[in-house]
Amino acid sequence: TIMQAQLHCFYLLTLYLTTGYGQEGMFSGPLKPMKFSVFEGQEPSQIIFQFKANPPAVTFKLTGETDGIFHIQPDGLLYHNGTLDRETRAVHKLEVSALDAHGATVDGPVHITVEVKDINDNRPMFLQSKYEGSVRQNSRPGKPFMYVNATDLDDPATPNGQLIYQIVLQLPKINNVMYFQINNKTGGISLTVEGSRELDPVKNPSYNLVVSVKDMGGQIENSFSDSTSVDIMVKENIWKAPETVEIVENSTDPHPIKITQVRWNEPGAQYSLADKEKLPRFPFSIDQEGDIYVTHPLDREEKDSYVFYAVAKDEHGKPLSYPLQIDVKVKDINDNPPMCPSPVTVFEVQENEKIGSSIGTLVARDMDEENTMNSVLVYRIVDQSPKSPTEGLFLVERYTGMFQLAKQSLKKQDAPQYHLTVEVSDKDFKTLCHVQINVVDINDQIPIFEKSDYGNLTLAEDIAVGSIILTIQATDADEPFTGSSKILYRITEGDSEGRLGIDTDPQTNAGYVMVKKPLDFETAAVHNIVFHAENPEPLVPGVKCNSSSSAKFTLIVTDVNEAPQFSQQVFQAKVSEDVAIGTKVGNVTAKDPEGLDISYSLRGDTRGWLKINHVTGEIFSAARLDREAASLYRVQVLATEVGGSSLSSTANFHLTLTDVNDNPPRLVKEYTGLFFCYPLKAPGSLIFEATDDDQQSFRGPQFTFSLGSESLQNDWEVSKINGTHARLSTKHTDFEEEIYNIPILINDGGRPPLEGAVSLPVTFCTCVEGRCFRPAGQQAGIPTVGMAVGVLLTTILVIGIILAVVFIRMKNKGKDNVESAQASEVKPLRK
Ligand SMILES: *[C@@H]1O[C@H](CO)[C@@H](O)[C@H](O)[C@H]1NC(C)=O
Ligand SMILES: *[C@@H]1O[C@H](CO)[C@@H](O)[C@H](O)[C@H]1NC(C)=O
Ligand SMILES: *[C@@H]1O[C@H](CO)[C@@H](O)[C@H](O)[C@H]1NC(C)=O
Ligand SMILES: *[C@@H]1O[C@H](CO)[C@@H](O)[C@H](O)[C@H]1NC(C)=O
Ligand SMILES: *[C@@H]1O[C@H](CO)[C@@H](O)[C@H](O)[C@H]1NC(C)=O
Ligand SMILES: *[C@@H]1O[C@H](CO)[C@@H](O)[C@H](O)[C@H]1NC(C)=O
Ligand SMILES: *[C@@H]1O[C@H](CO)[C@@H](O)[C@H](O)[C@H]1NC(C)=O
Ligand SMILES: *[C@@H]1O[C@H](CO)[C@@H](O)[C@H](O)[C@H]1NC(C)=O
Repeated sequence: TIMQAQLHCFYLLTLYLTTGYGQEGMFSGPLKPMKFSVFEGQEPSQIIFQFKANPPAVTFKLTGETDGIFHIQPDGLLYHNGTLDRETRAVHKLEVSALDAHGATVDGPVHITVEVKDINDNRPMFLQSKYEGSVRQNSRPGKPFMYVNATDLDDPATPNGQLIYQIVLQLPKINNVMYFQINNKTGGISLTVEGSRELDPVKNPSYNLVVSVKDMGGQIENSFSDSTSVDIMVKENIWKAPETVEIVENSTDPHPIKITQVRWNEPGAQYSLADKEKLPRFPFSIDQEGDIYVTHPLDREEKDSYVFYAVAKDEHGKPLSYPLQIDVKVKDINDNPPMCPSPVTVFEVQENEKIGSSIGTLVARDMDEENTMNSVLVYRIVDQSPKSPTEGLFLVERYTGMFQLAKQSLKKQDAPQYHLTVEVSDKDFKTLCHVQINVVDINDQIPIFEKSDYGNLTLAEDIAVGSIILTIQATDADEPFTGSSKILYRITEGDSEGRLGIDTDPQTNAGYVMVKKPLDFETAAVHNIVFHAENPEPLVPGVKCNSSSSAKFTLIVTDVNEAPQFSQQVFQAKVSEDVAIGTKVGNVTAKDPEGLDISYSLRGDTRGWLKINHVTGEIFSAARLDREAASLYRVQVLATEVGGSSLSSTANFHLTLTDVNDNPPRLVKEYTGLFFCYPLKAPGSLIFEATDDDQQSFRGPQFTFSLGSESLQNDWEVSKINGTHARLSTKHTDFEEEIYNIPILINDGGRPPLEGAVSLPVTFCTCVEGRCFRPAGQQAGIPTVGMAVGVLLTTILVIGIILAVVFIRMKNKGKDNVESAQASEVKPLRK
């Protein structure tokens, strides 16, 4: 055993050295409460700490949760010689005491805590090797319907114990679409959007999933995993719209009455109804069982159907699924009696009407549903008054309400009027309607005019429309106020244009002849009119109108002087702008309705371009016309009748001027600032633009450009860029510092072509910062004569002074005052 102990000591010593234990403070120290962390599953033995003994302490004792693994050597070396397992004990609470030579405690016990740190030494495991669950078709996507659960003994506060769930496989897989999803943290399995839409127990009642779980937060490296099988049954969705509900209207049962129900797939849903029709009063309700009620009696005649929606929500107010549409149809009951069309319905029968002829139809109405027994009406005559000469004179067709003469023709002497009481009945109700039958005379009398000729009437043609010009009268001996005696007047001759009309007074049968359209002396000065009188009812056979039913009338229209009339309000003409003065450019015509001569004149000829022939209306140019000044020239023409009241009227004359090429091209602006820096380092160029005042084609001008002088061709070149722009380039660099005026010809290529000769001033000047430098009051580079003379004089003066100095120096050589003389002469030079 001594050998063993020594061996052990040696082993410990090795560890001690290699791990660095024993350094004061970190790995060794006096006895005091301490805390250590040690990874589980490490090498079987490790030194933890070296306690130092203070006399009289000579040895140490370890107690507490040592689990036979923690030990202390008499010299105070705390170590463990067994593998730690966090899952067995995560924290070891130890006590260390210091003992003296007699074994009595002299220090402590102090608390020593050893925390065992986790390593990933446990694999996750599903609690079940197989799970079973079920889901309703159309369940809300993302809402878990079951959970799988795995455990891992490792510390859940470290990745070692963090589990991630995953669906590895779904069987069957349809179109490669996942119908299920799993919450990777909770293991909750729910439907995907596609699953919610497409799962159908009829097509596929069960699915199998393989679900895996991984620790290490799902990392692939160093993680353990497990898997399980999940069987899922798909159950039918019971959240379905119920059948259309039929509610009988006007129910007397106590309300509310349950009419239908909806059910969510699981209990606990909160139900509500949504009224999309925005009714003023919504007569339905739902309770928390999903039962739907009608809250009061309905009236089909007010509204015969309802559509609303049932909604199921979860406890947070989130819809569990789509709303269900509830259709309600209100069933008719016969709760409306038939209604008469009016309090009294009046028919007229002529005296000589034959048996069986139709008199008229009574159409009663019923508010109940059409085409059902509730609105089928039956007609029956219940009473006739008077009953002379006999009862039952009339018949009514049972279902149509058509009345007929039943027994004999009627005679006014018997009774001029009958009152019938007619019973109109539907299934349950009876209504009495009243029919009055008037017996009217036969139309055996023709209308006869009071006179056959209404003579002559003279009217001015400008009489107002609507004026009554004549009253005519015919009489009819038939029964008054019937269709046999009422008179309608017609004009059969003399008014083919319909200028007159006749209204009949219903009381007196007088006819009022009225002007309906303006009269016109010029087209119809005399109207020989024939009136005809007739009845709305036909005459009985054998009776015919004769000439007494017609009358004559002569309407004489007199002339009123009217202004001349132009044949059109706007006259248009078009000429080329270069027409010669005096060319006819247009003409206007007016006519006087009375046939008077007309004199034409112009108004608004502000430019004085036109003149008009007073007699013919022809218009001529009176000056040079210019399209560029006015392309559309508008004037007024006046037509005045000669004689009469000199009435006049006006019309417009619009003269469009078409372009001729009468403007040569020109530069678009005055180019003053074109320059090149002098001296020219390399050939350069400048761009300029031309324009033309003539009308241009849609392509714009197409000018050609050329140098205006052949002698310049060695120095300059003009090249076209496009129709309006050209480039002027130098051909060399050898130019003087001065202004060159370059003559340029611009041709417009028109018909005939016009050429503009322009001059482009180009300056060669000294440049300062890229800008032409021109001293004030002087053009750059061109010395004036005065300047030249000045320069010359200054040069001569300087030369003169220098010569004088030289001369004086030579003369005074050897003299003492050379220095002062030189100074006095040089000084002015420096000024
Ligand atoms: C650990 O050491 C103690 C005493 O030093 C001894 O009794 C025990 O058997 C040792 N255990 C192992 C597994 O070496
Ligand atoms: C999973 O199982 C553990 C241990 O049984 C339990 O504490 C936990 O609540 C379960 N989780 C779920 C989501 O059921
Ligand atoms: C777990 O699910 C969440 C949310 O779907 C996702 O953001 C995360 O990346 C997933 N984690 C892993 C490891 O798949
Ligand atoms: C309901 O029926 C009763 C007879 O049953 C009727 O008097 C009432 O007018 C009806 N109400 C409506 C609104 O139709
Ligand atoms: C009516 O005019 C016609 C011709 O214009 C003339 O012959 C006749 O005498 C006139 N009659 C009366 C009553 O003026
Ligand atoms: C037209 O007939 C009526 C009787 O219908 C008769 O009184 C009148 O004299 C007749 N007139 C002419 C012109 O024949
Ligand atoms: C102009 O006069 C000519 C005859 O001179 C005629 O044919 C033409 O219709 C007149 N045009 C107008 C607008 O009146
Ligand atoms: C002609 O060329 C000039 C200069 O390049 C340019 O500014 C202009 O837009 C051009 N015009 C047309 C019609 O292309």
